[in-house]
Amino acid sequence: MRVLQVCSEIYPLLKTGGLADVAGALPQALHRHGCDVRVLLPAFPAIRRGVAAQQHLAGHPALIRGQLPDGTTCYLIDAPELYEREGNPYSGPDGRAYEDNHRRFALLGRVACLLAEGRDPDWSAQIVHGHDWHAGLAPAYLKAAWRTHGRRVAASVHTVHNLAFQGTFGLNVLGELQLPADFYQQHGLEFHGQVSYMKAGLHYADRVTTVSPTYAREIQGEEQGCGLDGVLRARAADLSGILNGVDDQVWNPLRDPLIPHRYGAGDLASKRLCRSALQQEFGLAPQAQAPLFGIVSRLTEQKGVNLVLAGLPDLLARGGQLVVLGSGEPALEGGLREAAAVHPRSVAVRVGYDENLAHRIVAGADVLMVPSRFEPCGLTQLYALKYGTLPLVRRVGGLADTVVDSALENLAEGSATGFVFERFEQTDYVAALRRAFALYRREGEWREVQQRAMAQDFGWNAAAAQYATLYRRLLP
Ligand code: ADP
Ligand code: GLC
Repeated sequence: MRVLQVCSEIYPLLKTGGLADVAGALPQALHRHGCDVRVLLPAFPAIRRGVAAQQHLAGHPALIRGQLPDGTTCYLIDAPELYEREGNPYSGPDGRAYEDNHRRFALLGRVACLLAEGRDPDWSAQIVHGHDWHAGLAPAYLKAAWRTHGRRVAASVHTVHNLAFQGTFGLNVLGELQLPADFYQQHGLEFHGQVSYMKAGLHYADRVTTVSPTYAREIQGEEQGCGLDGVLRARAADLSGILNGVDDQVWNPLRDPLIPHRYGAGDLASKRLCRSALQQEFGLAPQAQAPLFGIVSRLTEQKGVNLVLAGLPDLLARGGQLVVLGSGEPALEGGLREAAAVHPRSVAVRVGYDENLAHRIVAGADVLMVPSRFEPCGLTQLYALKYGTLPLVRRVGGLADTVVDSALENLAEGSATGFVFERFEQTDYVAALRRAFALYRREGEWREVQQRAMAQDFGWNAAAAQYATLYRRLLP
C-alpha cells in the first residue's frame, strides 16, 4: 500500500508544534503496519539541509527525491522563490503570514496530486494523506484529476490537527489555483465568499480524520467547529478521531539523553534529581515540600496560559513553583516574565523555543499544566504521563481522552493519572490545582498515580493500525 504523507513541517528538521512530531513519527509506525510511506514537503531551508541523498527527478527539476533522517523516502518541492525563507514556514520574522501563502501551499497540494498521477515513474501514491490546511487542496486537485482522466487517481485522507487555522484567502487567488471553476461553491472550497483550504480538505477528501475521538465530536458542534461544523456534520459518516501517539525514540525517560538523570517507574529518586537540577538551573528554591509545575507550550489563547497567570497567587500561596518554556502572544510572555521578576525563587520563565529544555522540564516538573481552551490532541500531556509528571488539564479534546482525574473514586478504583477540570474558568482551574497540592502531600498515593501514568501505553502502534485500516478500506 503506497501512501504519500503531505505536510509542511517534520521533526527533527522543522517544527513549530505537535504537527511536526506527528509527521516525524507516523511514517515509521506505518511501515510497521505494512505501508510503503513517502513524505512530501516544501523544500524549506531547514528541510533541505537535513535530507540526505538528494536527487532531482528526471524531467522534473523542481522535484527532489531524498531521505529523511529516519531513512524514509521523501520528496521536496524545490521552489526557492516560494520556500527559501528561514524560520517559521508560515510567517515572516514580523509574525505576519506570508502574502503568498495561498501560492506556497497550493503548490504543495498540486504536487501531491502529481505524485499520485505518476510524476515519479518508480513510485506513485495510492493514498494521499494530507495534514492540516497546508495540504487541504490535495484532495481537490485529486478530484479534478479524476475528472480529467475519467478514473480515480488515488484516494485521499485529510487530517485536521487544528481547526482554528484554516488557510482562508480572498477570492482573487482563485485564478491561480487552476481548479475547475465549479469547485468554487458552497459544496466545495467556498467559505463566506472566500477560498478555504481547510474546507477543501474536509469537503473533497475521501476520509477526514482528526487527532482524538473527543475532538472529532467537538468540531461537529458550533462551539468548537470554527464555522466549519456544518461541513463536518455533513461528513460525519467519513469522519473519525485517531489519537496521536508518543515517539518512544524521542520521549522515554529510561534512555533520554537530554535529561540529567534517566529513570523508570521503579526509580523515582532519579526523577527527583531531575527536579533538583531544574530548580538549580533556574535559581529556584531547592524545596521539595510542594509541587513544581511545568509548562512547555505555545503561549496563546488556545493553551489557557491566562488561567495560569490569574491563578498564580493561589499556586504561590501554597508554596508551589512554576517553570515555563514557551513563546507566543506578547501579553502572555510579558505577564509571565513579570511574575518571574517578582518571584525569582518560585517562578522561572524562558521565552523561546528549546527542544532540550523541553525534555528537562517534562522530566523535572512534578505536574505539567495544559489547561487548554481547546486541544485537538495535545502531545505534552502524553510526554508528561510517560515521565511520571502528572498532567493538569482541562477536560477537552484529546486531553479528555488521555488523562483521568485524581478524584477520590478514581484514586480508589486505581484509574487516576492526573488532574482534570471541567469549565474554562478560574474556579475550576484552581480547584484542580488544590487537588494537586493535596495529593502531593500523600506521598505514597502520589507515587502510585505516577507509576500508573508511566504505565499508560500511548505509543504510535495503535494509531498506525487505525490509519492502516482506514487506508485499506479506501483501496479498490
Ligand atoms: P501544539 O501543536 O498545539 O502546539 P502539542 O502539545 O500537540 O501542541 O505539541 C507541541 C509540541 O511542541 C510538543 O512537542 C512540545 O514539546 C513542543 N513545544 C511547544 N513549545 C515549545 C517550546 N517553547 N520549546 C520547545 N518545544 C516546545
Ligand atoms: C495541533 C494541535 C494539538 C495536536 C497537534 C498534533 O497543533 O493543537 O492539539 O496535538 O496538532 O496533532
